[in-house]
Amino acid sequence: MSIRFIEETKQLILETKNTGYHMKIDQLGYLQHMYYGPKPGQDDMSYAFRYYDRGFSGNPYDKRYDRTYSLDSMPQEYTSFGVGDFRVNSIAASCSDGSRCAEFRYVSHEISEGKYDIPGLPSVYENGGRAQTLTVTLKDNAANMGIRLYYGVFEDLDIITRSAEIINTVSEMVWLRKASSICMEFPYGNWDLMHFYGRHCMERQPERVKLFHGVQTLVSGRGMSSHQHNPFIIICDHDATEDSGDCYGMMLMYSGNHKTEVELDQFESVRVVMGLNDDRFRWELSPGTSLHTPEVILAYADGLTALSHIYHRAIRNNVVRGKYKLSHRPVLINNWEATYFDFTEEKLLQIAAKAKDLGIEMFVLDDGWFRNRNDDNAGLGDWVTDTEKLPGGLGSLISKVKAMGLRFGLWIEPEMVSEDSDLFRAHPEWALTAPGRAPMMARNQLVLDLSNEEVHEYLYSTISGLLRDNDIDYIKWDFNRPISDVYSHSTPSARQGEVPHRYYLSLYRLYDRLTKEFPDVLFEGCAGGGGRFDAGMLQYSPQIWCSDNTDPVARLAIQYGTSFGYPASSMGAHVSASPNHQTGRKTPLSTRGTVAMAGTFGYELDLSKLTEEECEEIKKQIERYKDIEPVVHGGDMYRLSDPSENSRYYCWEYVSSDSSRCILSAVVTDPQANYTLIHVKLKGLDPDAVYSVGGEFECRGRTLMQNGYTFTQLTGDYPARQIDIRRIKEKTQ
Ligand code: GLA
Repeated sequence: MSIRFIEETKQLILETKNTGYHMKIDQLGYLQHMYYGPKPGQDDMSYAFRYYDRGFSGNPYDKRYDRTYSLDSMPQEYTSFGVGDFRVNSIAASCSDGSRCAEFRYVSHEISEGKYDIPGLPSVYENGGRAQTLTVTLKDNAANMGIRLYYGVFEDLDIITRSAEIINTVSEMVWLRKASSICMEFPYGNWDLMHFYGRHCMERQPERVKLFHGVQTLVSGRGMSSHQHNPFIIICDHDATEDSGDCYGMMLMYSGNHKTEVELDQFESVRVVMGLNDDRFRWELSPGTSLHTPEVILAYADGLTALSHIYHRAIRNNVVRGKYKLSHRPVLINNWEATYFDFTEEKLLQIAAKAKDLGIEMFVLDDGWFRNRNDDNAGLGDWVTDTEKLPGGLGSLISKVKAMGLRFGLWIEPEMVSEDSDLFRAHPEWALTAPGRAPMMARNQLVLDLSNEEVHEYLYSTISGLLRDNDIDYIKWDFNRPISDVYSHSTPSARQGEVPHRYYLSLYRLYDRLTKEFPDVLFEGCAGGGGRFDAGMLQYSPQIWCSDNTDPVARLAIQYGTSFGYPASSMGAHVSASPNHQTGRKTPLSTRGTVAMAGTFGYELDLSKLTEEECEEIKKQIERYKDIEPVVHGGDMYRLSDPSENSRYYCWEYVSSDSSRCILSAVVTDPQANYTLIHVKLKGLDPDAVYSVGGEFECRGRTLMQNGYTFTQLTGDYPARQIDIRRIKEKTQ
């Protein structure tokens, strides 16, 4: 049993393979958080929390003669609001009488087999393994609001998922002002916060900070999970390393506006509240209705590497759906950086023919294929082929590409509209624009109001039509601007605060319909590179274009940061031209190949401009990628260098799940003369086995892990080395 209730002590205990999560229904019915971490070996963890008079922290009315009892210091599973817990709260609302407070106490709980679903939202699903659900119902008696807390316990995956449902149980209206998914408490400890910030072309940079007293807030209000703050954080012990130390991950499965508040309070306790961004949020909860919040995937592990492994496995097996989730991802050529908008059918076919010759499996036609799209100022919304560029139409190009033996992929950006488009001329009210106000433009385009059902249906019929009428194997679904001027012309003024979340409910439904109707199509998410790289999107698109920055040296940093939460199989990575178009940096082809092989592999350059020598090298890269893909996408990833400590090189490895093969890679970012060679201790090998190390020598797994591996000298501009380490003898004396 993964979930237990102990009647005498009123404890609710969740257990995964290695962790325990303990709650207690206290004497007044508050649901207290008692413990989360390695299985403690006993049920009652309430001994660790002491009651004492905490001065200016007040007491609930029932405990007015007991000054040791205060919500302001009590660790809770989901907070009340406005009734004396002055830390960050999980929820805020105004009731029809104008009051803005509610206190939630336990009513009942239910333990059920299987994993709960969240209507309309992506969530971790059960996949063969055993999952159980705990549902705890809390209620406020004055305002008559209810909350259902859902806990999904995945024993084998070692994760717990959480989500909340806020219910209006009365006949009066309630306006929600804040609706978080979780409250997590860390009553004791010395904690660091790790988060993943960034910008366009430099996404998910890890930053680790010691918490300060007060609230540290990480938000996106950009209408997308954003390049700036990924909805994933780690709370780790100040001394935690890759290999050991308490590490807690919290990953929000959501692609829209989000908020994470981390508070270190007056008593050195840490509270994390994560969920929908409450800025400009206002949800009309009419009587008898409820709002479900997005899911958070929680994990605990000893060390950052083990934490990453838990997320990688969960995402690969229980988040990503469809036939591509664990299977080979086609090696592709994308024409974007080869031609941008300037192409003819002849040029595309020239690239495709060369691609086939090199062993590439799929040709992807990026932006610019539809009418009036010769730059990024026009055309979005009208998904009609530009017959000047493609005289025979899209169908004819596809047939020619397929005749070469390649698969075909297409770029679309369906959520957007250009002012200069037939769609906008016919339906200006379908764009999100505030009345009487000239909207902010970004890439000179506007965002369609997906919260409007007519827009949803238009997009469904356009995209499904495109897929029905054409033999398309892959869709790159882009989203190239943040959402501002949020105003839906189809929504009453009092409900405008619901539009950002309704947008995502509609987008997820659209993705759900399309992926179910076209199960053979591989979807790759994209938002100006990695601006919507989150577990919500990964439910529908097994891979996401990691960044518009294709410079391999910049990519090392981006892919390093991304790897803390997300697996290699989710990161779109391509070999592009040198000098690189974003940074101007020149790098060797081998380095570009090594770095792109840490994701879902492809090329994005004009293949017709390559030398014979480069073509030969690319053929070898493709063969190599196909050979190592099962280890990279299915194995465990180990970060063997830390850029915050060493800026000379990056080093990482993948180890197959049976430890029989390890792919070790290194790239030197700052070559120095006569300097110490790169020496790393390998990880995850079978200690007793003997391995062949790149065919160069044989060595025991234990030795490679204890004494390490020394790279030969790497000189020149950004040199890379990839070593194939194979087990040749299972056990030795
Ligand atoms: C975005 C994507 C790019 C490319 C362009 C096309 O920036 O991230 O890969 O598709 O749009 O306009």
